[in-house]
Amino acid sequence: MPNTEQDKLVRSLLNIINILLLVVGVLVATIIILPFLLPTGQNQSNGKQPTVDSAAGIDHTVYWTPPDIGSIADPKQKQLVEYGKELVTHTSVYLGPHGSVLKISNGMNCQNCHLQAGTVVFGNNYGSVASLYPKFRPRSGTVETIFKRINDCFERSLNGKAPDSTGKEMQAIRAYIEFIGSNVLKGQKAAGSGFKDLAYLNRAADSANGQQVYISKCQSCHQANGEGTLSQDKTEFTYPPLWGNSSFNDGAGLYRISSFAKYVKYNMPFGTRYQNPQLTDEEAWDVSAFILSQPRPHLAVPRDWPNLSLKPVDHPFGPYIDSFSEKQHKYGPFPPVLAVQKKQEAGGKKASSKAGNGG
Ligand code: HEC
Ligand code: HEC
Repeated sequence: MPNTEQDKLVRSLLNIINILLLVVGVLVATIIILPFLLPTGQNQSNGKQPTVDSAAGIDHTVYWTPPDIGSIADPKQKQLVEYGKELVTHTSVYLGPHGSVLKISNGMNCQNCHLQAGTVVFGNNYGSVASLYPKFRPRSGTVETIFKRINDCFERSLNGKAPDSTGKEMQAIRAYIEFIGSNVLKGQKAAGSGFKDLAYLNRAADSANGQQVYISKCQSCHQANGEGTLSQDKTEFTYPPLWGNSSFNDGAGLYRISSFAKYVKYNMPFGTRYQNPQLTDEEAWDVSAFILSQPRPHLAVPRDWPNLSLKPVDHPFGPYIDSFSEKQHKYGPFPPVLAVQKKQEAGGKKASSKAGNGG
């Protein structure tokens, strides 16, 4: 063989070896990198508690995200879950004052308070319902099923009645809530479910100041009379009511100022997310005080919080184990109330500031 032929052969052999090395390199790199690229949505890390790198201010928490309804194999089950989602999103169309199935609620949608059908991080989502119910709730003093919990929101937040638990509507709502929480380990709390904490003010929330906040940041949608606006076909609200006859009643979870302020701080004005709150803490508490001092339906629930030592500091109806007024329990300042609770706790009584909220 002449020299040039040999050179050509050597060169093409080298080329092949180079390509092989490249392929092996890419394979090795892929194997190393792949675990970091795969989505973590379906894994159980959702149940992990927040891990905030406070030094750098970076939040490494893997927040809960719901599984995809499209992944349900059984067509009947999928249909039920989809109907449940529809009922949570457009409750009023089916169950409101002009509901096509039943007329049993005030015209609000579950989604008005459980944003995007109960899936938004710190938007009062349903991530921890399937994993934590049945559970003991101090408001009723009993162990509650998911049905009982949904029932409560119908009777209080929707100021109405719940559909029968054996009927298709309740079954569908439960199926939906159970499905979206099915990727959280039993007994664990999904990161980002419920509300994000908000520090108490050292003063009472100020409704006069809150009125100014309302006028500049809320009224354009929720209206000057607080009653919101209906959609064109009048089957549901475009902007839901914050007070008045069609709003939630005073037995509802949002009637407690801490729940209201947490919801508003991290979710309002509409489009706000917990990462970019628009209101200062003071504005959130004050606007809540203003709204909660307006008229709304009353629900007599004298049996709520049967164990007085578990009553949250901001439940605005007595009796209490302390001597603070109903007014202070409604608007604060809360730190002195908490201090008394702590003392009683230390004294052996089982007071708790962690007593769960109610919807
Ligand atoms: C741009 C319009 C807009 C503004 C401004 C706005 N909201 Fe809302 N708000 C909405 C909509 C829409 C919903 C219902 C969300 C849904 O159904 O997805 C809502 C829901 C709510 C709810 C829960 C449902 C209810 O009716 O009780 C509260 C509480 C609330 N808003 C308070 C406020 C407060 C307080 C402000 C001012 C700081 C505010 N909103 C500003 C549009 C707005
Ligand atoms: C006016 C606002 C509002 C409306 C409307 C509303 N809820 Fe709620 N809901 C709440 C609040 C507040 C809570 C308590 C949140 C907490 O304790 O962290 C709650 C809690 C719940 C919970 C328990 C969540 C948990 O993690 O323990 C379920 C389930 C629920 N609601 C279902 C519904 C359903 C279904 C509807 C519609 C039929 C509805 N809610 C309508 C405000 C509302």
